[in-house]
Amino acid sequence: MGQSIAILIGTITGTAELVAEDVTPVLEGAGYDVETLDMNDLTPSVFRENELVLICTSTYGQGDVPDNALNFYEALDIDSPDLSNLRYGVIGLGDSTYADTYNEGGSKFDKVLTECGAKRIGDVMQHNASSDELPEEAGVAWAEEWVKILAQ
Ligand SMILES: Cc1cc2nc3c(=O)[nH]c(=O)nc-3n(C[C@H](O)[C@H](O)[C@H](O)COP(=O)(O)O)c2cc1C
Repeated sequence: MGQSIAILIGTITGTAELVAEDVTPVLEGAGYDVETLDMNDLTPSVFRENELVLICTSTYGQGDVPDNALNFYEALDIDSPDLSNLRYGVIGLGDSTYADTYNEGGSKFDKVLTECGAKRIGDVMQHNASSDELPEEAGVAWAEEWVKILAQ
């Protein structure tokens, strides 16, 4: 059995799930066991069993995380658990027409996990729904680089 990666999904209209579906074979091809989890069901205790996670989340409202991610995000922000054993990556989905809050959902998770002592691997991916690029294709290209960095 390989090392496991949990993909944690924050979404309203399902794009983040589509991205996770296409990213999964890239991670599995690099030897990881992959599990996809809806943030709605999560508390920070998820990090007890998962020391490598991929946050995959969109942005809504005034730069907020999606509704299904709100409780999980706030628990991290308020409780500030010690996540010094955690390594994570971030795929953020947004739309540059929301110029003031562009991709803040992913940025918020990046910030709170760093504040909890976790180590980000690679750059935060930011997909722009107003670009010509499909989010799944952007996710796959990003994940191909991410697994190389993980292996270093
Ligand atoms: C009502 C609404 C509000 C949004 N607010 C933002 C925002 O503040 N910042 C941003 O970057 N994207 C914003 N978006 C764009 C979404 O994050 C983007 O379309 C994303 O791909 C949706 O992913 P999902 O289907 O996984 O929820 C908004 C979209 C909608 C429909």
